[in-house]
Amino acid sequence: MLVMKRIHILGISGSLRADSTNTIILKTLGSLLPSDTTFEIFEGLGEIEHFSPGLVDTEAVIRFKTAINQANAVVICTPEYAFGVPGTLKNALDWTVGSGDLNDKPVSAISASPLNSGGNNALASLLLTLTALGTQKNEASALSIPNVKGKIADGRVTDAHTLNELSVQCANLLGLIEA
Ligand SMILES: Cc1cc2nc3c(=O)[nH]c(=O)nc-3n(C[C@H](O)[C@H](O)[C@H](O)COP(=O)(O)O)c2cc1C
Repeated sequence: MLVMKRIHILGISGSLRADSTNTIILKTLGSLLPSDTTFEIFEGLGEIEHFSPGLVDTEAVIRFKTAINQANAVVICTPEYAFGVPGTLKNALDWTVGSGDLNDKPVSAISASPLNSGGNNALASLLLTLTALGTQKNEASALSIPNVKGKIADGRVTDAHTLNELSVQCANLLGLIEA
C-alpha cells in the first residue's frame, strides 16, 4: 500500500493587523497548495516577549518554536516598517537563533507593500536574517509584491500575475522539501 507523506507548511505574517494584506497573501498562498499539504498561519506573534540572551523560553515562545518544528517548511510574508522588518517579526525570529529551530528549514520570504517598492528593504533584511538562521532557500525563494492594495479584493489575492508568483513560491518550497 502506498502511504502518502503529508506535508505541513507554517505561515508567519509580519503584520498583527486584523485585515492585514500580508496575512491575506498568506491565506491565498495556502489555498494554492496541493490538497495533500496542510497549511496553518501562526497566531500569537504579538504575545512573544522581548528577546534577550539567557531568558528562558516562555509559553508563547514555546508555542512559536513548536509550530516551526512541526512544519516541513515556513513561509514568511511581511510588510516593511521604516525600511526594515517589523520589530515583532524580528523579535520572534531572534528567539530561534540559539535553539536553531529554523536551521535547514525550507523557507519562502515574501514582502508586500502599498508602495511601488514592494517592501524590498524589508525583504532584503529578512533574507539576511534567514541566512543567519541557516534556513534552506534558493534564488527563487523570495518575492516582493508592490502596489498590493490593488491586487486584493474580498480577503483574497485577485491579481492573476501575483497568483502565479505565489504558485511559483509554493512549487519552489515543495521542491526544497523534496530535495
Ligand atoms: C510605522 C509604519 C511604517 C511604514 N513604513 C513603510 C516602509 O518603510 N515601506 C513601505 O513600503 N511601507 C511602509 N509602511 C506601509 C505599510 O507597508 C502598510 O501599512 C502595509 O499595508 C502594512 O501591511 P499589512 O496590511 O499587512 O498590515 C509603513 C507603515 C507603518 C504603519
